[in-house]
This record gives sequence, structure tokens and C-alpha cells, in this order.
Amino acid sequence: MPALPAPERATSLVNALEDIPVEPHPDRVRLRFLQSGEDRAVKEARVLAGTTIFDAASWNGVAIDSTCGGHGTCKKCKVKVVSGHAELSAVDPRAFSIEELKSGWRLACRAPAQEDLTIEVPPLQTRPKAALAGVGRHVILRPAVQKRYVELDEATLTDQVSDLERLLAAMDDIEPRVSLDVVRGLGGTLRRSNWKVTAVLVDDLLIDVEPGDTTGSRHALAFDLGTTTVVATLLDLETGQPKAVQSILNAQQPFGADVISRISATMLDEGALRMLQDRAHETLQQLTTEVCTEAGVDPADVHEIVVTGNVTMIQLALGIDPEPLSMAPFTITARRLPEAKATDFGVQVHERAPAVLFPALGAYVGPDIVAGVLATGLTLDRRVRLFIDVGTNSEIVLGSSAKALATAAPAGPAFEAAQIRCGMRAAEGAIEGVKIRDGEIELTVIGDVTAVGLCGSGLVDAVAELVGAGLLDHSGRFVLEASDRFGKVGEENVFYLSDDVFLSQRDVRELQFAKASIATGWTILCNDLGVEPGEISQVLLGGSFGSYLTPASAVRIGLVPKLPLARIVAAGNVAGEGAKIVALSVTERAAANAILDEVEYVELSGRTDFNDLFIDQLRFPG
Ligand code: FES
Repeated sequence: MPALPAPERATSLVNALEDIPVEPHPDRVRLRFLQSGEDRAVKEARVLAGTTIFDAASWNGVAIDSTCGGHGTCKKCKVKVVSGHAELSAVDPRAFSIEELKSGWRLACRAPAQEDLTIEVPPLQTRPKAALAGVGRHVILRPAVQKRYVELDEATLTDQVSDLERLLAAMDDIEPRVSLDVVRGLGGTLRRSNWKVTAVLVDDLLIDVEPGDTTGSRHALAFDLGTTTVVATLLDLETGQPKAVQSILNAQQPFGADVISRISATMLDEGALRMLQDRAHETLQQLTTEVCTEAGVDPADVHEIVVTGNVTMIQLALGIDPEPLSMAPFTITARRLPEAKATDFGVQVHERAPAVLFPALGAYVGPDIVAGVLATGLTLDRRVRLFIDVGTNSEIVLGSSAKALATAAPAGPAFEAAQIRCGMRAAEGAIEGVKIRDGEIELTVIGDVTAVGLCGSGLVDAVAELVGAGLLDHSGRFVLEASDRFGKVGEENVFYLSDDVFLSQRDVRELQFAKASIATGWTILCNDLGVEPGEISQVLLGGSFGSYLTPASAVRIGLVPKLPLARIVAAGNVAGEGAKIVALSVTERAAANAILDEVEYVELSGRTDFNDLFIDQLRFPG
């Protein structure tokens, strides 16, 4: 790479590059990450316009060099934008020569993706002692999985110390627990490997003794077991970097789209719990095979798994009766579950690999939210921040390092677009973005094909734009005389977004109830915490749906407090990020457990102020 320019040349370099045209940008953009020197896409990602290339890469398991955690100070996150344009940041001219800047080199953490881009990512130069995970969290690597290579003296007639004592004496600074399974094969392993072996420890548990020196290979798997989507990340514990990320639909789908229908299934059919457990195991195992194959890692070299998900998903996967979760007083079987193994989740990795679980605050503020709080660092920060995981059941956490409160707001299926007339999942053909400019409608459709339906983010955009254009009044009623796009389907008034896709008055009502439920939740938390919504420093929208919401639309419909848009950020799959963090650091694992004592759960059912606040929040502020 050519020599780096001096800082004082920054201004002239920026001027020299001013003529690079900037296209108008859609709300969502597609990024293709290429390994340097190869011309094949290794990963594609769709993110909100404005997300930095660094964040988009990190969320999708593409490793980019960094030692500053994305704060723009280490200048290691160099990438080359080979198609599309990423604007220059003030720091770029200090990191690159003018030729490099002109050929597309940028610092990934300073480069917001405003349009579709193809990005060449150089191989990692550093072997970091820390990894960036979660929302800008800089995690110092301290995995529970440790390896010790030892060379032992061969047993002789004059040295008849037992095999196990001989091994433990070589690691006399620790006193591991040893399982019988490890002892079974120990004698053979020591003798076959000429007394040179590697002890594999997870925390204080000796789970294996491997022949030779295998200290360079340590892996863990982090799962986010969602109701709809399940995500697996295979982590290299030596570098802290993901080696592969895959997601698939939860195979429990045929039993119902949401947790209540799956719990109901277990109440109607006594064999259903077993079937749901099997489906969860199949899903996790399929992902395990996929990520290990993609990364070329033997599953037996994965020594620990971390699993997060909502309480129902975790209980179903472990075969724990979920019925009490579905009826008052909504009790959970255990806020902290006993120790589990990967095999308890049907995951075939190292046969004695433990499974690490997160605690739960309540039946509906579960391990996924504890993982999300860890990933956002909400309880570590002095600023008051609001984290909302938007979904059928929306979880809300508000607070800072001083105090934090959490609650769950039942939002119904509007965001999943399940009960929307033209609703569909965020898949090819779904309208995911809507803009109304000068009376003209611009649609962003996944896959750039003809629109066939409307997904959750498209629904929020459509309603927000209709409010903005005066086609929907603040009470949520269509202003029928204001556009010739209004029509009727049966008896119902609808607004046509395209020839085939429309928004009905009932759809608007569904969204209105969902957003009012969430807004009531954060209003109650603000009141209980004694903060005004305007004092909130940052709103983090998480989860597979929240991360795709357009901040302006979220404000316009009143889903989030009315704050400057820069304070509203997409946080990505924070539950999955929390699981990664826990795999990378035992210190963070302790922090995750402490969240149970640091965050107070607020139950909304039975609150006398709920109804009045809910009715106030039904309006669209516009
Ligand atoms: S990650 Fe350090 S400068 Fe971008």
C-alpha cells in the first residue's frame, strides 16, 4: 500500500475528490463483501442506509481489522469500495494517499453506506486481543475455553505416578474438575502421543485431553434461537473473530408463528412438546453443520456453545413445559437454569461441550433481552438510553448504569405483518420501504422485483408517509378525498401502494395498537424512572425487525420518543451479539449474570395508569 499522506493534506484531498458524484440514496442498501484479491462475493448484507461499512460487516460475520473498536482512531479498518461510492470522512485523508482515496479506499468505521456497494476486505493483519461486538462494545478476549500444551515425563518402573496425577501436576496452577469420560481415554492418548498432549478446559472443567499441540484451535458457537429466525455464529476464540455466520427459519414454524401458538400446541397435544423440542434441535444442528462446513472446522473442535432466545424458545428446546408462561401469573420455571450441555440442545459438537445460558428477568423479558442489554452496554453507560426489541412481544429497557427498568409490551403481530391484508415476511417481493414525494409513491422492494406484499418495515413506512402527506389523519383515519389511490376491497377502504398491494384501514388500526402498546411501555418506564423522554440520549432499535425500521418513520408514528433522528439507531441482532460476547469473555459472562440484579422488571398488566396512557398513545403525532 502506498505511503500515508500527512494530516495537513486533508483539506486539499477532500477538495480534489469533490467531483465524485453522489447518487440519491434509498433507505436500505445492499453490501457485497469480497475477500481481497478474489472476485467472488463472500457475504451479502442488507442494512439501513447510513449504517457504517464496519457495523454492517461486523453484524454479518465479516472480519475487518480494528484495535480501537470502531472509534476511528486506530486506522486499521481499511477497505476498498470497488463499486458504488462511499463518501470521504475527515479521517480518511490521514489514513490513505490521494491515489488510494481515488481508487476507493476508506476507513470502514467512518464510512456510512448510503447506496449499494461492493467492498473488498483485506485479510486480517493483526491478531487482536479484543474484538468488536454488540453496539460498539470492545470485548477483551478471555474465553472460558482454554488449552494447555504439556510435555510429560514417560511413566517408568521408578516413576509410577498415575496418568491423571502426572497430567494435573503439569498444570499445578489450576485445580480442574475432571469427568470420568476424560479419564477413560487418558492412558491411551498419553501413550499414543508420546506424552505430549493438550488439555482442553472450559472454566474449571477438564473436558478433553488431545494428542499433540492443538492450542491454535479453539472455537465456540453462539446461537440466537429466535421464534422466527435462528442465527448461528462460529467464533474463532484465538482471534475473537467470527469464522462463519448462518441463519435459517426456526423449524417450529408449522406449530404457529408466535410463542403463544407454540405453547398452545403443547397444551392441546401431549406429544407436541417433544416434537417442538426435536424441531429446535434439528434447526440448531443444521446451522451447526452449515457454519462448520463453511469455515472448514471439525464440529468436534467446537468446545462450547452459547444459546440465547426468548424464555419460550429456550424452554421448548430443553423440553421444559412452557404452559405456566402463557397464563397469569406468568411464572418462569427458573430465572437461572442449571448447567446444560450442547447435547441438551441436540447440537453435535465436542461431546462434552457445555452450553452457556443467559438468565431471564421474567416470562417475557427473557435471555434474549439480557443478551441485548449486555450487547448495548446499557447498564454500563452513564447516559440514559432506551432499548426496544420490536416484535410481536416487544421488550423495552430504559436506564443507565445508575438504574434500569425493563418491561414487555404485547404488540400483536402487526410488525411481523401477519395480520396485515397484504402482509408478508421480509422476503423477495416485499415492500420494505415507502416514500411519498410530491404525491408520487416510491417503493423499495426486496429483490427489486414486482411488489407482492408488505413487510413490517414497509408497513411502518407506509403509515408514516401517509400521515406526513396528509392522507391519514392523526386519529388514524384515511382522508379519502385527498387521493385517487384510495379504493375499496369488499366493504373496506384501502390505499393502493401498487397495482396489487394495498394498505387497509384495519391494517392501520393493527399498527396503531402495536405502536401504542410499545409507546405506553416506554412512557411508563420514563415515569417510573423519573426521566422525560427528551432526556433520552439514544434509542436503540434491535431485533430482526427493529433494525430495519426507518428512524424518521418510527418517530412520525410515535413508536419512539420524538428525538433528533441521529439519536435513534439500528442496533442489529443484539441478542446474537450478546451471545458472541459471552463466548469471548468470562468477565462479560459475569456481567450478563449481574444484569439480573441490575435491571428491575416492571409488570404492565394490572397497572392502573396503563389504559389512559395507551389511549393517549393511539394518535399518530406526525
Ligand atoms: S476501527 Fe479503528 S479506525 Fe476504524
